Amino acid sequence: MPSVRPSSGRRYEEYRNERRRAPSEPVGQAGEDERRKLRRQRTFPELFREFWSLLAGHRWRIFTALVTLSLATGFVLLMPACTKIAVDYIITDHPGPTGLPRWITGDLPEFGPDDRVRLLWVLTGTMLVITSLRIVFGMLGRWQMTRLTKRVQVALRRRVFSHAVRLPLHRVYDLKSGGVASILREDAGGAAELVFNLVYNPWQSLLQLCGTLVVLALVDWRMLLGAMVLIPTVWLTHKTWISRIRPIHRDIRSTRTGIDAHATEAFGGMRVVRAFARQGGEASRFVAGNHLMARQEILVWWWSRWIDMAWQMLIPLASTAVLLYGGSRVIEGSLTIGDVMMFTAYLLMLLMPLELLVNSATEMQTKLAGLDRILDLLEEPREFSEREPRYTLARGAVHGAIALRDVTFAYPPRSARRGGPPPAPPEPVIRGVSLEVRPGETIALVGPSGSGKTTLCNLVARFHDPQHGAVLFDGIDLRDIDVDSYRRLLGIVEQDVFLFDGSVADNIAYARRGATMEQIRAAARAANAAEFIERLDAGYDTRIGERGVRLSGGQKQRLAIARALLADPRILILDEATSNLDTESERLIQQSLADLMRGRTCFVIAHRLSTIRHADRIVVLEDGRIIESGGHDELLARGGRYADVLKLQVEDAAPASARPARAP
Ligand SMILES: Nc1ncnc2c1ncn2[C@@H]1O[C@H](COP(=O)(O)OP(=O)(O)O)[C@@H](O)[C@H]1O
Ligand SMILES: [Mg+2]
Repeated sequence: MPSVRPSSGRRYEEYRNERRRAPSEPVGQAGEDERRKLRRQRTFPELFREFWSLLAGHRWRIFTALVTLSLATGFVLLMPACTKIAVDYIITDHPGPTGLPRWITGDLPEFGPDDRVRLLWVLTGTMLVITSLRIVFGMLGRWQMTRLTKRVQVALRRRVFSHAVRLPLHRVYDLKSGGVASILREDAGGAAELVFNLVYNPWQSLLQLCGTLVVLALVDWRMLLGAMVLIPTVWLTHKTWISRIRPIHRDIRSTRTGIDAHATEAFGGMRVVRAFARQGGEASRFVAGNHLMARQEILVWWWSRWIDMAWQMLIPLASTAVLLYGGSRVIEGSLTIGDVMMFTAYLLMLLMPLELLVNSATEMQTKLAGLDRILDLLEEPREFSEREPRYTLARGAVHGAIALRDVTFAYPPRSARRGGPPPAPPEPVIRGVSLEVRPGETIALVGPSGSGKTTLCNLVARFHDPQHGAVLFDGIDLRDIDVDSYRRLLGIVEQDVFLFDGSVADNIAYARRGATMEQIRAAARAANAAEFIERLDAGYDTRIGERGVRLSGGQKQRLAIARALLADPRILILDEATSNLDTESERLIQQSLADLMRGRTCFVIAHRLSTIRHADRIVVLEDGRIIESGGHDELLARGGRYADVLKLQVEDAAPASARPARAP
């Protein structure tokens, strides 16, 4: 792979060619990502309606924000008019102070230079007041809208989060691999910011556009017509440039992501990099990525300068045209100097709202697509929502009997998304299993890897519902029981222990929030974890999990056992819970596990004979079916599969010297 990697120059050449072929189209991998980001299911009116309903309860706030915004925009529009007044009525005599209303000029018939200066002071003072008012009102409106955006963001994120954690498990896995963080953070954040894109900014642009057009028309409609020619020109150049610059920025971002990903990977796999002495190779790969990025950045720099230059040309060009035409009208006497100055100012103002709208168009598309994805997610049915539970279990009133009646189960296909082709029906993993478990009985599940032991436990824990047959608890179909109240009775310890970011004590008390420190210590002692915890730097307050201290597999399992002990479950599932422990530690916690299992209905998956043989019943699974079940001695005597497996294990465990000598 490294030897055939093209140089950054070649890659840039290819990149330029692709860009030339499709100036504004997304290209390559980044293009695929981008297209996915912009893909939508709903039409704009549908999205707008949904968006509007998200704002329920905030509408009066939007209304007040729009009112303040309108006032602020009004004040903006007043400013050039003030300039005209200053020029025409005060500084020159077109028509001079006599044109001002009486309540300003008073009764003075004649105006000396002093009076003019005084009037000028009054006018500039007024302008300052207007500007201050505009700033204050503008701020108020923006503040209202920003606060609203943040509120909607939090509410939306909460809604999405609490919905996502209640989706069926296989959908949760899909989400996780598709980046749940980006839905929660970017999509939900962006969707809320649509308040600006769909309401605030368009309203501002509309007001300003209409306002300037009206004023311009009042000054000189012929000049306005001339100016109108400029608008599409400016708008078009702007839009085409933007559509060329933005894709390159996007490409730069994707190049950067690639570089970052590579660097992270190289550091993550540093042991392999060093083991094969590839430091130099990795560094040159890193540099090649950076070269490509530098070239793209220079490309975008050039495009940006072209835009700058175009604008630098266009705006003076427009002003010159106004000056030329307007000036000649002034000389003719049909316009005043103030009119021309005002016109120029309004002309520039006319371009601003256009720019605002053009600039936010793409951004708005991305946000709309984000809103669409969120709505999709919120529409997905929650876990087990198709059937209303009829029973809510109370801890004290349950017995703990579990029954599987002719259960057949297949995992849902991975990406059963709408739109895609329907995937082939998956193979059942559990086939027609029936099993009656008395309250307090311990069942050991034995069988080769992939035979369905974990899946069987997952069905008991109701992580999934079977497609055929039923799982019953105390004679009630699990589907009729409120799933939260049922899962509160469960304790699960798995091989891969997941620990949360937090202290040791937090993690042990995860299933029982109000646990006292004494209870936590007792649970840790019982799980044979107290000793190593106390040796940690901060004892029970040591931070573990993703960003904390690393624990060994065995230590994690002991924490998980302590966690399950503290939860005091009625049904206990130990899925290879002791597989990471060495024989010595396992022996040490054997007693606490036995204590833990007493009086609870237990499912135990283990490979060690010592753990299995004490079970009340051993169930041997193969290919999703129960092929044998019974007590240890009974199965051994029968000489079936269990006896075979056992024989292998005993041979493995026996020291080499004890084996019969083989012929050389
Ligand atoms: N989440 C899953 N999605 C799809 N198939 C799965 C999933 N988990 C396990 N399987 C499949 O189900 C079968 C049984 O797996 P499992 O119950 O984990 O076996 P065991 O615990 O006995 O090793 C295997 O063929 C495995 O590939
Ligand atoms: Mg398993």
